[in-house]
Amino acid sequence: METEISDHNISLLSVQKGSSRALLVSVIKGGAAQREICEEHLQELSLLAETFGLHVVHKTPCIIRRYDAKTYVTEGKLQELVDFSKEHQATLIVFDDEIAPSQQRNLEKAFGLPVIDRTEVILGVFAQRAQTKEARLQIELAQVKYQAPRLKRLWTHLSRQHGSGGSGSGGGHTKGEGEKQIEIDRRILRRRIDLLEKEILEVKAQRETQRSSRHRAEIPMFGIIGYTNAGKSTLLNALTDAKVFVEDKLFATLDTTTRKFVLPNNQEILLTDTVGFIRKLPHLLVAAFKSTLEEAFHSDILLHLVDVSHPMAEEQCDATFEVLKELNVEKKPIITVFNKIDLCADHSMINRLRIKYPKAVQISALHHKGFDELLEMMIKELSNQRRIATLRIPQLDYGVVSEVMRSGNIVSHTYEENDVILRADLPNVMLEKMKKYIINE
Ligand code: GTP
Repeated sequence: METEISDHNISLLSVQKGSSRALLVSVIKGGAAQREICEEHLQELSLLAETFGLHVVHKTPCIIRRYDAKTYVTEGKLQELVDFSKEHQATLIVFDDEIAPSQQRNLEKAFGLPVIDRTEVILGVFAQRAQTKEARLQIELAQVKYQAPRLKRLWTHLSRQHGSGGSGSGGGHTKGEGEKQIEIDRRILRRRIDLLEKEILEVKAQRETQRSSRHRAEIPMFGIIGYTNAGKSTLLNALTDAKVFVEDKLFATLDTTTRKFVLPNNQEILLTDTVGFIRKLPHLLVAAFKSTLEEAFHSDILLHLVDVSHPMAEEQCDATFEVLKELNVEKKPIITVFNKIDLCADHSMINRLRIKYPKAVQISALHHKGFDELLEMMIKELSNQRRIATLRIPQLDYGVVSEVMRSGNIVSHTYEENDVILRADLPNVMLEKMKKYIINE
C-alpha cells in the first residue's frame, strides 16, 4: 500500500501536460522600464514550456510594486491574472519565478487551476531529456526533493481528481485520513531519497574509475560550457564528428559527450560538451548539474560559448558565471567564444561584451567561421598550462621515461651514470605527478 504513492503523485503534471493550455506569467518588481526584461524572460519561459510539451495560450508580464507573502502577487494583480486565465481558457498557470509551496496552494485556490513554476518546468524538461542512468537518477532526486514540501498540494489535486465530496468508498479523503496519508508519503519519499542518493554514489564511483584511467593518459581536456542553446553541440560536431543531437530547443544536451581532437600543432586534446546553463537555475538543479558537469570540473580549460545574437547575451553570460561560481570552477582558465556572429547585423552587443571579455574569439559554429583563431587561442592557452623542466629518471623507472615522451615535447635527452636526464615541455598536471624527478625548472 505504501509504495503506491510517489509515482502517481509525481507524474501528476506529466499526465496533464499534453492537453494543458498554459498561461505564462513573469513577475518583476519595479516600474514600466522593466517590461522589456519581463518580455524576454517570458520568451525564454515559453521555449521551456513548449519543450516540456505545454501549449502556450498567452504570456503576461506582471509589473508589481510589492510581493504578497500569501499569494506572491497582490490582490488586484491576481484578479487581473485570473481574468486573463478565463479569457484565454487556460488550464494551467506557469510562473517564471520560484513560488513557495504555500503560495502555490493559495494561487491554485484563486485560479481554480493548477499553478506550477519555472523550476517544475525545468525539472520536467530535464526528466524528458536525460539519457544516462546517472542523469536520470539525479533528476529524479531533484524532482522528489522538490515535491516533498508540496505533498499537501498534491493530495488536494488527487482528491479533486477523484471527486472531493468524500462520498462512496473510493471517493475523497477525510481530513484525518489525508494528514495520515501525507505522513506515509513523506516517509516513502524520504526512503526514495536515501535510495537514490545511494545509487548515485555507486554510479559516480564507476565514473570516477573511468576518469582516472583517462587522466593517466594525461590528455588535456577542454570543456565547452555556456547558456542553453548557445551552440555547444554544434561546435563539438563541427570540430569532431561527434554527431551530438542539435536542436533549436533548450537543453537538447543533458549528458556529456567527450571526443578526441587534434590541434593544428598536433597536440591531442579531449573536447567535452556539457549541459547548458540557465538563468535562475534552482538549487536542486545545480546539484543535478553537478554530476552531469563533472566532466567540465575536470577540464583543464573551459570554452565559454556565448550566443551573441541573443538580446539577453549579457545576462546569459552573468547567469553562466553564477553557476560556475556555485560549482566552484570559475577560477579555471576560460576562453570566451562569441558564437552565431553570422546572425549579428548590428555589432553593438559584441562591442559591449568585448569590454567585459577583451580576449574573446568570434566564431560561427554553424558556418565553421573563425575556427583558426579559436584553435590558435586554444594552443596558446594550453601552452600557458605547461612548463619546461629537467628531470632525472633512474633507469629502473624506464616506464616513466616513456610516459614523459608520450605527453611532452622533449628538448634534450642525455645519460648520466644510470639515470636518464630529460629536459621537456610538459603539462602542469604531469609535472605535478613527476615532482620527485624534477631537478630544475
Ligand atoms: P543545449 O543543449 O540547449 O545546451 O544547446 P547547445 O548550446 O548545445 O546548442 P546547439 O548546438 O543545440 O544549438 C542550438 C541552435 O543554435 C541550433 O539550432 C543550431 O543550429 C544553432 N546554432 C549553433 N551555432 C550557430 C551559429 O554559429 N550560427 C547560427 N545561425 N546558428 C547556430
